[in-house]
Amino acid sequence: MRRTLIAGNWKMNGSLASINELMNGIKSGLSDVTNADMAVCPPAVYIPAVRELIGDAHIGLGSQNVCDQASGAFTGELAASMLKEFDCQYAIIGHSERRSLYGESDELVARRFAMAVESGLIPLFCIGETLEERESGVTEDVVSRQIDAVINTQGVEAIAKCVIAYEPVWAIGTGKTASPEQAQAVHAYIRGKLAALNAEVAEKVQILYGGSMNAGNAAELLSQPDIDGGLIGGASLKPEDFLAIGKSA
Ligand code: 13P
Repeated sequence: MRRTLIAGNWKMNGSLASINELMNGIKSGLSDVTNADMAVCPPAVYIPAVRELIGDAHIGLGSQNVCDQASGAFTGELAASMLKEFDCQYAIIGHSERRSLYGESDELVARRFAMAVESGLIPLFCIGETLEERESGVTEDVVSRQIDAVINTQGVEAIAKCVIAYEPVWAIGTGKTASPEQAQAVHAYIRGKLAALNAEVAEKVQILYGGSMNAGNAAELLSQPDIDGGLIGGASLKPEDFLAIGKSA
């Protein structure tokens, strides 16, 4: 049985004051979330503070990216070993904003994935199609290509060490959510593709949905058989909404 994971991607939002309020809000309602694991991925500079705020609460911690190299002259990057020092368990890899705004290729994303796994971080591995790609009927080809970049370099077994996040680009930050049927169809396709290579990996891997998931639509999305949680942007910045998503699992 796959656990449900609700992870918040704060993106480049927050301040020292607001993260205090946000984390205290999440902690105060956490005991009502009984069927999901919760995690937060703050901007890197706030990771130490958030770690302190988490204390011994059952909230996972993740970064929003990780360097593909172990250490050295890589200005602006964060090493997996550094993130591990601050008890990060997760690293978002290949978010569509990284891919589209900062030019991260499938190959670079796969290398970042490899470094995360090698270092004991769990990649929250983001994949998903643009609106243009969906409208031209190539959604499955796109997610397949993005996954193959990892499978072809690290084997299908590597996928068992990550959490996949299917995030249709057209649903991110737009208020437009994939319908439960649309999301389930892509999740089932992904699991089916993996099952053809390794049934055990396919059965084990959590596949989260991301893209305007909120307190109102979460229950229906999370009730789909192949949707194992959510990667939440905007709604993860409001404790009551983030908790409501967790409670609807
Ligand atoms: P929104 O929930 O704001 O659409 O963002 C989704 C996302 O990109 C999570 O990584």
